[in-house]
Amino acid sequence: MVANNAMNRERGLAGVNSYARELGFDPLAYLAERAAAPSWLDLCCGEGRALHQAASTLPADAVLTGVDLVGPLAPVPTPPTLELVIASVSHWAPKRTYDLITCVHGLHYVGDQLGLLAGAASWLAPDGLLLAHFDPDSIRWADGSPAGRAAVTALRTAGFRYSARHHRLTLQGARSTRLPFRYLGANPAAGPNYTGQPAVASHYDPDEVTASE
Ligand SMILES: C[S@@+](CC[C@H](N)C(=O)[O-])C[C@H]1O[C@@H](n2cnc3c(N)ncnc32)[C@H](O)[C@@H]1O
Repeated sequence: MVANNAMNRERGLAGVNSYARELGFDPLAYLAERAAAPSWLDLCCGEGRALHQAASTLPADAVLTGVDLVGPLAPVPTPPTLELVIASVSHWAPKRTYDLITCVHGLHYVGDQLGLLAGAASWLAPDGLLLAHFDPDSIRWADGSPAGRAAVTALRTAGFRYSARHHRLTLQGARSTRLPFRYLGANPAAGPNYTGQPAVASHYDPDEVTASE
């Protein structure tokens, strides 16, 4: 697990340093179009600024949940529609499903990235949407050799779309999926990734049993 004060934890909903910009997608517009009680789970939410801003606009029956290893460094009163959970996304699971799940530059610091993606796929509402930044270069086999291509193939087979240009994974609709990888551990000293920030490398073995299921 990695968290440090050089991380950009303060993205808002829209503008230069924002979720809309990083995701190429407007979370608020998406949620506002939901018929009732829109729900958004933001994994590795940082300060939770985008969630706070969404809470000020969405209806009172909205459900907004942010999870981060580190609580807000600048605490502000939390509106009733927003819950900020201080926990590792590697050991946390929601008790409900969500219309929208995001992980904006959070996977880069998570050990079992593929396990989290499989979990998040099952936390979506039936027609929900998952968006996450993902760096295939951070997925390695046990000996350190690249496993990113195999990971992207497995994710695509499971229904994810991956934009290499934007380093973004998208999944539309909930599903139960088991990716054919067995998590071995992570290297927190793998060095900077495409963002220029130090990131974690996640190591796996092929999971032959799961692959043949
Ligand atoms: C680059 S920041 C992005 C924050 C936010 N998504 C944003 O864009 O403003 C990465 C965040 O991931 C969090 N993080 C790292 N490892 C985590 C873990 N295992 N579980 C939950 N959060 C984690 C860090 O505390 C940090 O707030």
